[in-house]
Amino acid sequence: MTKLLLTGKNGQLGQDLQPLLTPLGELIALGKEELDLSNPEQIRKALHTHQPDLIINAGAYTAVDQAESEPELAHAVNGDAPAILAQCAEQIGARLFHISTDYVFDGQNNQPYTEQDSPNPMGVYGKSKLAGEAGIQNHCHNYIIVRTAWVYGTYGKKNFVKTMLRLGKEREELNVVSDQVGTPSWTHDIAQAIAGLIANLPRSPLQKIYHFTNSGVASWYDFSLAVFEEAQGLGFPLKIERVSPIPTADYPTPAPRPLYSVLSGEKIAKALGTRPPQWRVSLRKMLTQFAKENA
Ligand SMILES: NC(=O)c1ccc[n+]([C@@H]2O[C@H](COP(=O)([O-])OP(=O)(O)OC[C@H]3O[C@@H](n4cnc5c(N)ncnc54)[C@H](OP(=O)(O)O)[C@@H]3O)[C@@H](O)[C@H]2O)c1
Repeated sequence: MTKLLLTGKNGQLGQDLQPLLTPLGELIALGKEELDLSNPEQIRKALHTHQPDLIINAGAYTAVDQAESEPELAHAVNGDAPAILAQCAEQIGARLFHISTDYVFDGQNNQPYTEQDSPNPMGVYGKSKLAGEAGIQNHCHNYIIVRTAWVYGTYGKKNFVKTMLRLGKEREELNVVSDQVGTPSWTHDIAQAIAGLIANLPRSPLQKIYHFTNSGVASWYDFSLAVFEEAQGLGFPLKIERVSPIPTADYPTPAPRPLYSVLSGEKIAKALGTRPPQWRVSLRKMLTQFAKENA
């Protein structure tokens, strides 16, 4: 029976991955308490003890702005840990599945980023994630890296949808950035794509990078309006009356943000034989699930 080891089990993606990975083999799901990715010895010990056939690395340092003041921790978790996972994977004959980000790009494109486009990260988080990709490519010959973007899920601590629901309950007016565009992507759909790739893996080693997001394009402003419209329809308590679009310059953040973050999903659509749902369809499903879970 295939043995799968998942890191970051309590994250938004980690939680949606678990039910989809369980039918694929014996799943060992570890959170930060059981496997701290900033601790190289713990990583080596966990992998040599469990000897998985497949490692799925959903653990990451994801606090983009905080990373600017904690570069060492961000690099340890996002840059060094994937390289150590890759070394161990090579030693025990495992395949490594890793999750990366649109933040490896600088957002200067005006058409969707393909896997062939050159990365050029702007902040500490993006640089640390790119270092993780390089560490994997340098240390093992059997890996899949899935880059995704604008992630939100029903579970996990924080995301844009949950922030909008909270602010929409507290305030009547809100300003939201309208000149950054990307594709809101539901963790359930990302997890399904990952599980679909795993279920159809050939036996031979692979070295692949894929981009996966939901389909379509939106600005954060469009996304916030959609959250409020869908949430209203589902009966969420909301006080919000007006949302105003503002430029990035009026919402300064410690880490720079890519202005254009759309990823091309052509390559993964061919591999999976299916296209992802449109982002707003998935947003509605997530909010429906979130409403049920919090009823
Ligand atoms: N969120 C986004 O918008 C976005 C966009 C593009 C790509 N991604 C990528 O998608 C993947 C999944 O992200 P997500 O949104 O699910 O993030 P998330 O909800 O923040 O989950 C990450 C998980 O990793 C854990 N973690 C943090 N430091 C750790 C450490 N030292 N050792 C072990 N685990 C640690 C976190 O635990 P604590 O919460 O307890 O710290 C959390 O459970 C990541 O690779 C991320 O870079 C995310």
